[in-house]
Amino acid sequence: VFPGGVNSNVRLTAPRRFFRRAAGSHLWDEDGNDYIDYLLGQGPAFLGHAHPVVNRAVATASDLGMVTGAQCVEEVEAGDALLQALRWPEQVRFAVSGSEAVQATLRLARAATGRPKILRFERHYHGWLDNIAVERATGSQHRAAGVTPGQVAGAYEDVFVIPWNDVDACRELFEEEGSNIAGVITEPIMFNNGAVLPKDGFLQFLREITVAHGSVLIFDEVISGFRVALGGAAELFGVTPDLATYGKAMAGGWPVAAFAGRRDLMELCADGVLHAGTFNGSRMAAAAVASTLHVLTRDPPYERVQDYGEALMKGLRSVADAHSLGLRLQGVPAAFHASVTTGSSSQETGGTPVSAPSLYPRLARILADEGVWVAARGIWYVSTAHTARDLEESLDRVDKAVATFARELP
Ligand SMILES: Cc1ncc(COP(=O)(O)O)c(C=O)c1O
Repeated sequence: VFPGGVNSNVRLTAPRRFFRRAAGSHLWDEDGNDYIDYLLGQGPAFLGHAHPVVNRAVATASDLGMVTGAQCVEEVEAGDALLQALRWPEQVRFAVSGSEAVQATLRLARAATGRPKILRFERHYHGWLDNIAVERATGSQHRAAGVTPGQVAGAYEDVFVIPWNDVDACRELFEEEGSNIAGVITEPIMFNNGAVLPKDGFLQFLREITVAHGSVLIFDEVISGFRVALGGAAELFGVTPDLATYGKAMAGGWPVAAFAGRRDLMELCADGVLHAGTFNGSRMAAAAVASTLHVLTRDPPYERVQDYGEALMKGLRSVADAHSLGLRLQGVPAAFHASVTTGSSSQETGGTPVSAPSLYPRLARILADEGVWVAARGIWYVSTAHTARDLEESLDRVDKAVATFARELP
């Protein structure tokens, strides 16, 4: 029925499974096999799957009628809850996907500054659309190149791409082009590629250089938002952007995204800058956001998630060591990246993983066979629903998977 058998190309590399049910930290496939889930739908199921509070709120909302082409009180409650949770932004708009929310922020940055250029970083991900799904052109310092056939070449002419965490490259580009740069967009933690942390002071540096040149700083918090702290990476690192995007962990699995920020920028949406969407701020989306944020603020889970993630990372290291497998883990406990290295012992580093990239997807496949559901690209997401029992069971299953994997290694 579907090209490649999937509805998102990100799933092409995943082991093929049909899941019949998902609840809490577990998934069950059509054959009745149980999995402990560390993919969480690519992040959204931060509260675990089918959280009863969120499900009830969404069901009640849909009973009242889904979309009206006007406002509903639930929408305002969700917006208020989001602004209160994040603290720094003054206004917010809802969208359906993170890709769209990113587009809105790029447009706002250009509209506010009257400048054409956007600076983004290598190996980050900001959605699949033509003007931002780019990499650095081979041999170029900062020119963008497309990533897919069919991409409109002109769409990314105004995008610069430089390595992340590279203060010198950034400073040099701003010296040459600063007066043309409308905005800088960054994942505050490079979750989409190795869960690499910003170098000490790098986000602050971006804050300062954008202020100095009158450019807009955009944090793409689609993964980090509501996951690494209630106030996202902005809170974790104490750096306030001008605009930010959210999605995933914000709504217990419901498809909704948002962009938020300074009032003078956001207000442009009501003053000529086009942002629209039939399903934006639907009653269900609003209910999902408000109920998720209610759960997250009433009983903040961040310490628990951190403890679980740390214990999981520690356990994975011991299992790897016991089988003499080089396993590199890096990131933060709430979302970390695993890769198989050619060395013999596990370690955590601050840099980009140097790994044997073809090996990890094989391990991910064996993990799935043993009942541990993880992404082939290496990211592990922890939810608030994971329990001490899950931890123990996960490490038993990982142990079996690693034993098989180690046996099959050349
Ligand atoms: C940092 C980041 N930005 C934007 C997106 C795009 O969001 P969506 O898949 O909801 O369009 C993603 C998706 O994974 C993401 O990780």
